[in-house]
Amino acid sequence: MVPCGCQKERKIARALPERYRQARLSDFSEQIVQGVTAWFAKPGDGLLLCGPAGTGKTHLAAAITRACIELDKPIMFRRAAELFQAIRQTYDQGFTEEGVLAEYARARLLVLDDLGAGALTDFERRYTLEVLDRRLNAMLPTIVTTNWTLPEIKERMDERIASRLSSFTLLAFAGRDRRERKSHSGEPANVG
Ligand SMILES: Nc1ncnc2c1ncn2[C@@H]1O[C@H](COP(=O)(O)OP(=O)(O)OP(=O)(O)O)[C@@H](O)[C@H]1O
Ligand SMILES: [Mg+2]
Repeated sequence: MVPCGCQKERKIARALPERYRQARLSDFSEQIVQGVTAWFAKPGDGLLLCGPAGTGKTHLAAAITRACIELDKPIMFRRAAELFQAIRQTYDQGFTEEGVLAEYARARLLVLDDLGAGALTDFERRYTLEVLDRRLNAMLPTIVTTNWTLPEIKERMDERIASRLSSFTLLAFAGRDRRERKSHSGEPANVG
């Protein structure tokens, strides 16, 4: 339960999916923490966290989100699927998508989690590019997590998206799927 009166914990709880609310930078190696700290001092266009499933990309993006909120720095954490869903909803309701695009475009720091899970449709490609372009033009940094490497993004997603992400600081994850390890060790299977 969120401690009474603890505004930051409430903000973290609102910002993050429940599974990742306790994610902290201290969960990661010194090397990763140093990489993130160096990036944070000079974020440039953004941070690209790529690697296979279950290696900790979302956990790190959530830990960065927690750290920002604890430091009173603005950050917006969204799954890429939420962006597409929000835009589709505006269509269904007969509104323009501009409000959604503006929200994603003006966030001081945006986390776009799990970009390219499944092949991107033309619609998703178009709006991913639109959000990235607006943010790059406004010099606002973005953290993107994805299962794909840049060459794979170029091949499977979109050459123009890969080109934009190529200026991001790259943090490549490797190793075993942590979800598997938990179930193999006899702990409850983690399906998140
Ligand atoms: N450093 C860590 N310490 C503790 N738990 C971790 C750590 N990294 C990841 N986990 C946990 O392992 C599980 C898988 O991690 P996560 O969801 O971040 O993987 P991912 O790389 O984003 O995978 P996917 O590509 O499938 O989205 C999650 O439950 C997460 O909370
Ligand atoms: Mg993830």
